[in-house]
Amino acid sequence: MVVLGIESSCDETSIAVINGGRLTANLISSQDFHKLYGGVVPELSSRAHIQRLQPLLKSALEQAKITKEDIDIVSATAGPGLIGALLTGFVYGKHLAFALNKPFIPVNHIEGHIYSGFLMDEKPIFPVLVLVVSGGHTMLILVHSEVKMEILGSTIDDAVGEAFDKVAKMLGLPYPGGPSIQNAAQKGNPLAYKFPISETSGKYDFSYSGLKTAVLRMINKIKTEDEVISPEAVNDIAASFQKAAIDALIIKTGKAIKAHNVHSLSLTGGVAANKLLRESITNLGQKHSLKVVIPGFEFCGDNGAMIALRGKMLYEAGERFDDDFEPFPEFYSKYLVNG
Ligand code: KG4
Ligand code: ZN
Repeated sequence: MVVLGIESSCDETSIAVINGGRLTANLISSQDFHKLYGGVVPELSSRAHIQRLQPLLKSALEQAKITKEDIDIVSATAGPGLIGALLTGFVYGKHLAFALNKPFIPVNHIEGHIYSGFLMDEKPIFPVLVLVVSGGHTMLILVHSEVKMEILGSTIDDAVGEAFDKVAKMLGLPYPGGPSIQNAAQKGNPLAYKFPISETSGKYDFSYSGLKTAVLRMINKIKTEDEVISPEAVNDIAASFQKAAIDALIIKTGKAIKAHNVHSLSLTGGVAANKLLRESITNLGQKHSLKVVIPGFEFCGDNGAMIALRGKMLYEAGERFDDDFEPFPEFYSKYLVNG
């Protein structure tokens, strides 16, 4: 069975092919020009997806050594994401499926991230505790099977990736903030500043607005004392912020492991590219004798492979979709229940 996966929810256009359970192409075209604007410009993102989808499909088919007639299922991200961006890949995939007379499977972007550990050779074992950390979401999810997931906690304000992006902006570091903070942090002292880990009423919920405000206060304080922030102070703040942001994730994930029957631990989403977070999650999992599965870098950020895989899973679970199924900009999933 050949499954095509199309991702276009934000600023990555990506098309992947899974052939007989093997990933044979995963092409990702990142819209780096958004850097010029300090963030993703939705209108420009949609236009870039439209320009890139067709050439990317041709290259993906070539790399996978198939023709479009070999495709058995077309899957595409249906949300959450920027509605204009979503529509480009969704409509492209839906029409391709119609022209080929094959099923079209809409995929929830977050579900794509959640199951991305299953793209690896060493797969997670159910029940898997998955920490999803991206620019839009911070969620702890207990995954029981291909069609049953339980939300244990999520952010009550900013997503962790959003906090990295905003703190980077405050420090004058380039967008996207995650990699910029990580680079600066490598040269800084994580113990230089003590930033708070916010308390939340939900046992496994996260909160990043207090941490963000504490960083802003510190930057303003240093600025008034010295007029400017030295590169050393930027590095120290980046390192101290990164530590606090990641400590919060590790504390809640540790609590969830203790309270639930879990066999594996997985980490996904754009922020899963963070080196300190990868190391901390690996250590936490090992401490609790869990199988730890952290996808490779190309599967942490937005990618078509995770969409193709999730599309394949849903198809195999018997899911079929009506012609009038629409993309959804907000979070929605019929398989995720509140824990
Ligand atoms: O999953 P993703 O590619 O897109 C969304 O669905 O949001 O995640 C993007 C987020 C951005 O906030 C970016 O700053 C963050 O992932 N990110 C990182 C790192 N690389 C990307 N955050 C921390 N450390 C990194 N190395
Ligand atoms: Zn994502």
